[in-house]
Amino acid sequence: MHMNICLLPGDGIGPEIVTQGTKVLDAVARRFGHTVSTSSALIGGAAIDATGSPLPDATVEACRTSDAVLLGAVGGPKWDDLPSEKRPEKGLLGIRKALGLFANLRPAALFPELAGACLLRADIAAAGLDLVVVRELTGDVYFGQPAGIETRDGLRTGFNTMIYDEDEVRRIARVAFDTARARKRRVCSVDKANVLATSRLWREVVEEVARDYPDVELSHMYVDNAAMQLVRWPAQFDVIVTGNLFGDILSDEAAVITGSIGMLPSASMGSGGPALFEPIHGSAPDIAGQDKANPIATILSVGMMLRLGFGLTAEADAIDTAVRRVLAEGYRTGDIMENGRTLVGTVSMGNLIAERI
Ligand code: IPM
Ligand code: MG
Repeated sequence: MHMNICLLPGDGIGPEIVTQGTKVLDAVARRFGHTVSTSSALIGGAAIDATGSPLPDATVEACRTSDAVLLGAVGGPKWDDLPSEKRPEKGLLGIRKALGLFANLRPAALFPELAGACLLRADIAAAGLDLVVVRELTGDVYFGQPAGIETRDGLRTGFNTMIYDEDEVRRIARVAFDTARARKRRVCSVDKANVLATSRLWREVVEEVARDYPDVELSHMYVDNAAMQLVRWPAQFDVIVTGNLFGDILSDEAAVITGSIGMLPSASMGSGGPALFEPIHGSAPDIAGQDKANPIATILSVGMMLRLGFGLTAEADAIDTAVRRVLAEGYRTGDIMENGRTLVGTVSMGNLIAERI
């Protein structure tokens, strides 16, 4: 197979981790007889510096004409004072919208090799944590109109619109149920239906979709309770499906309790067209350019790209296995370092994994 990948390295540690991701992709291609071509485009702060816009048209075009997109990270203190329309984050929100990437899959699982890093009490961790947050990504209060800040009756007033139509809920619910079918067949839909009209429609539509999936168990949970249950007993969750805002918050929570946020990949998918794969962590400007960043989340994002973007299961498995082997052999970047292990930098970690493909 030939894979035409658009790279969006972005800011901070983005470029160095994306380089390790493509290194591992090349190793997979060599082993399995595929070919890869890559092009690179600007996004976020890097794009602002070069063009004045966090998402130049040329970047959208480069993504559209690729088979899949691999993104590093965007943002940094340098651009924090810009108005919201010009911030690096707008580049990320813009590319999601432009490519119609409505489904964001964020797996959070414990790596047995990193059990010591888990933030949960030992008995809670022992029960397991292996879940996927399926977050709706192109709707909700993130994009709802009207939104803005204006003066009303002499008072500065900020407002956003929380809005979902039934089609938007239906398509993300289907992604969640399909995802559950390949896992433990449990979906927990998270909303705030005791307060929000948006959530009441959400719940109704999810119930309707569930009728097409009698083999999958559906439950509902209010978002405040879900935030609590995630730390209290995460083993109860398999697939969590939720809206854009709640999903943003819960996916960070689910990720951080594993103790290895530098390890977790994500996929953003649409209906056809190229999907986008990225680590869930940010641009870590404090360690950028110092060969300290953990490239594993990006490397595992390449794995998700192979599995979900190209349907290449054996190739994706090879990446997961190589990562597990390197961890089992004791190699660690600074963020996951423990006594008695071998500290390595970004480039070495990439090499070690690529060599084990
Ligand atoms: C994420 C990030 C983004 C979001 C920001 C950077 C716009 O927090 O991908 O979770 O809120 O979606
Ligand atoms: Mg977030």
